Amino acid sequence: MSAIIVERLVKSFGKLIAVNEASFTVDEGELFGFLGPNGAGKTTTINILTTLLIPSSGKAVVGGFDVVAEAEKVRRIIGLVPQDITVDDDLTGMENLMLHAGLYHLDRQGAKRRAKEVLELLNLTDAANRKVETYSGGMRKRLELAAGLMHHPDILFLDEPTLGLDVQTRTAIWNYVKKLRDELGMTIFLTTHYMDEADALCDRIAIIDHGRIVAIDTPKSLKNSLGGDIIELEVMHNNPEDVVQLINKIDSVKKAAFMDGLFRVTVERGEETLPMMLETLLRKGHRVTRVIMKKPSLEEVFLEYTGRALRAEQGSWEEAFRQRMIIQRARA
Ligand SMILES: Nc1ncnc2c1ncn2[C@@H]1O[C@H](COP(=O)(O)OP(=O)(O)OP(=O)(O)O)[C@@H](O)[C@H]1O
Ligand SMILES: [Mg+2]
Repeated sequence: MSAIIVERLVKSFGKLIAVNEASFTVDEGELFGFLGPNGAGKTTTINILTTLLIPSSGKAVVGGFDVVAEAEKVRRIIGLVPQDITVDDDLTGMENLMLHAGLYHLDRQGAKRRAKEVLELLNLTDAANRKVETYSGGMRKRLELAAGLMHHPDILFLDEPTLGLDVQTRTAIWNYVKKLRDELGMTIFLTTHYMDEADALCDRIAIIDHGRIVAIDTPKSLKNSLGGDIIELEVMHNNPEDVVQLINKIDSVKKAAFMDGLFRVTVERGEETLPMMLETLLRKGHRVTRVIMKKPSLEEVFLEYTGRALRAEQGSWEEAFRQRMIIQRARA
């Protein structure tokens, strides 16, 4: 059975279409990733699936319940770890979890037992009675994850679970997320704009850009769909078309295009094709000033499907600014 079914989902804010005819399904027990740049529509989609927003049109069913008509039932079986910081600095870890349990009307005794369990699961037992203001960023994120698990959700939604964390902490969070799927069989829907994260963690990935889903598959199939290695060249030229034509004549070249000042070439057996390509270009008097060879990664997949690069640094300034605003608001 599908844990999540989304059919032609649309959400517009005035003229802006944040989610544009999105359709996909997530299997039970699957770890499904929503990968896209800032403003792609990831949080909007999560907010609809978790009943925080009403769709403009289309349909979404979560755990067998319609997110609009049966919102209350959906809420009972899902957990949400939102993108913005939600734990209270002035409370201890345990107090935060008990507060959260109150929102779900868990009885006090049961809640206490459960809080101990989830704190143990996320390795926070020793910090349980410390105020959250003394926690590191990674500990906070783990506490938020713990809060999302308090009421034993079947389906867990994680919006950018590792945003702004250092590499080591991100890896630790991934391991906890994997554990939830592997040991508890939880269905997990997460959003991210870290491609390595999506690649290493997710069973399947949907790539979303400007509210549209442009590709859905396993990370492996997405990478294979590019059909070879990627060579990027910076070449002195008068007319890019001439260079593209020249490169395309080489047998093992599958595709060549000029993008953002670079020639992007998809080839079979990059190691063998590259010297041939350089020789061909040089013979025609084109000086090659830079060469990069890449094995296909999700970065290349993203570029292929959207025509734009998705780099983590792309959103970093905006992200840092937003995080600062959240912290300021929390302090006020
Ligand atoms: N309440 C709202 N009112 C108006 N526009 C909105 C609202 N919420 C989101 N948007 C717009 O919808 C688009 C999608 O936003 P969304 O937050 O879903 O993106 P995202 O993929 O989560 O981005 P990020 O990676 O920055 O979190 C953006 O252009 C955003 O400005
Ligand atoms: Mg978002």
